[in-house]
Amino acid sequence: MADVPPLVSFRDVRVDRGGRAVLTGVTADIPRGGITALVGLNGSGKSTLLRAMLGELPHRGDIIYRCGHDHSRPRPEYVGYVPQRLAIDARLPITVRDLFGLALNGWRPVVFGFRKSVSVRATEMLKKVDAAHVLDVPIDGLSGGQMQRVLLALALDPQPELLLLDEPAAGIDFKDEQDFYQLIATLNRNTGVTVVLVSHDLPTITRFASHVLCLQAGTIRRQGHPADVLSKESVAATFGPTGLGAR
Ligand SMILES: Nc1ncnc2c1ncn2[C@@H]1O[C@H](COP(=O)(O)OP(=O)(O)OP(=O)(O)O)[C@@H](O)[C@H]1O
Ligand SMILES: [Mg+2]
Repeated sequence: MADVPPLVSFRDVRVDRGGRAVLTGVTADIPRGGITALVGLNGSGKSTLLRAMLGELPHRGDIIYRCGHDHSRPRPEYVGYVPQRLAIDARLPITVRDLFGLALNGWRPVVFGFRKSVSVRATEMLKKVDAAHVLDVPIDGLSGGQMQRVLLALALDPQPELLLLDEPAAGIDFKDEQDFYQLIATLNRNTGVTVVLVSHDLPTITRFASHVLCLQAGTIRRQGHPADVLSKESVAATFGPTGLGAR
């Protein structure tokens, strides 16, 4: 696989926020078809890097995409994104079915109720993440793990070439977390989608990721195979003796 060019390359990328450089000199590659974990302490710039990839934040330097099987399209046609924080209020009095209705309607308010096709589509989308049973659950009644699956289902439609997950398992219990990562690994294997995920959980990354990017104070300090980048010695050298565990 060494001759497959990376799906995304960062070359000397800089992003300013609030009048200061949050990312600087970021040079890294995201292997095509892999699961890349983005790790770093709080405030190191992980979410900023994902949002720069999405074009939500302006950057200097180059973010180079190599997409499309015929290479005629530089950027992925579809990028799925699950943000670290929800842009909607999870206490809204709506069900998962309503949420899909809004999403399938381009997030425009729906005045006359949803057509039956919404329920059919929503059920199909939820089946992909083993969560069809939550269709009629109010969103404020979802467990953390169920909410992540709902957001993932939305991010998987249309089928993306690149899936960006910002701390997808934060706040969910160990069993749900392992099941969630297992689901991501299966999707990656079955669809070939390239995954970039932010996580603080080093054992889980070692188990599921094929590549690691290590951000420190806005710059990539190490990158490579999890076994090399996340060895005890390497983590201690990069982050100090307490490692990445402190949140
Ligand atoms: N809107 C903003 N204006 C100014 N500074 C910001 C803004 N958003 C983020 N920052 C700063 O950018 C830096 C990186 O933030 P970012 O959210 O990318 O970090 P992170 O690695 O995702 O952290 P966490 O692990 O807490 O999610 C932080 O120092 C943060 O304070
Ligand atoms: Mg973040």
